[in-house]
Amino acid sequence: MYSAMLLFRLLHIFFGVLWVGGVVLIALFIQPTVRAIGPAGGQFMGHLLTKTRIAAYFPAVAGINVVAGLFLFWRNTTSGGNWAATRSGMTISIGALAAIIAFLIGGVMIGKSMGEIAKILKAGDGPPQGEAATRLAAYQARIQRGTNIVLPLLVIAVITMAVGRYV
Ligand code: HEM
Repeated sequence: MYSAMLLFRLLHIFFGVLWVGGVVLIALFIQPTVRAIGPAGGQFMGHLLTKTRIAAYFPAVAGINVVAGLFLFWRNTTSGGNWAATRSGMTISIGALAAIIAFLIGGVMIGKSMGEIAKILKAGDGPPQGEAATRLAAYQARIQRGTNIVLPLLVIAVITMAVGRYV
């Protein structure tokens, strides 16, 4: 079980880093740049969403982090003592809840919108016009709103996970 703990901790932390780092890069640098450069931003997003695997990246890395986290959680709560009632257990549980909510909101608001944008862009020839452009802008706004919720939740998760053991 010791080696299982080691493996799941490694997966948990490695993929957590990829998840949070990716969201920070997009929220703080890519989204503001796309908004600032007008039509070229649309082209950039079009390539990112239809020609790269970004839509699969986030569910994959976040999913591995959450599944490995649930395993660690299960181990801690079933290995004797009353871990969940300790200050460390409660602190880590708050972070786990925040990360799980971030995962769900990320999927519903960001992932789904990315998929819809990719469909609109693949269906059209050139930059979308009329109704397609309106829908595209609505999905972009939804991604922005989703990111504004997900990022603070991930910050809470990182802080609580980092200090949990020592509180
Ligand atoms: C943003 C997402 C997350 C990040 C970056 C993250 C990061 C970390 C880190 C760095 C640790 C090691 C803390 C230490 O050993 O002092 C840890 C531990 C832990 N995490 Fe997470 N975590 C995340 C999400 C989750 C989720 C979703 C769950 C549960 C569903 C979870 C459950 C746990 C548990 C139970 C431990 C303690 C493991 C042990 O006792 O060795 N984490 N996490």
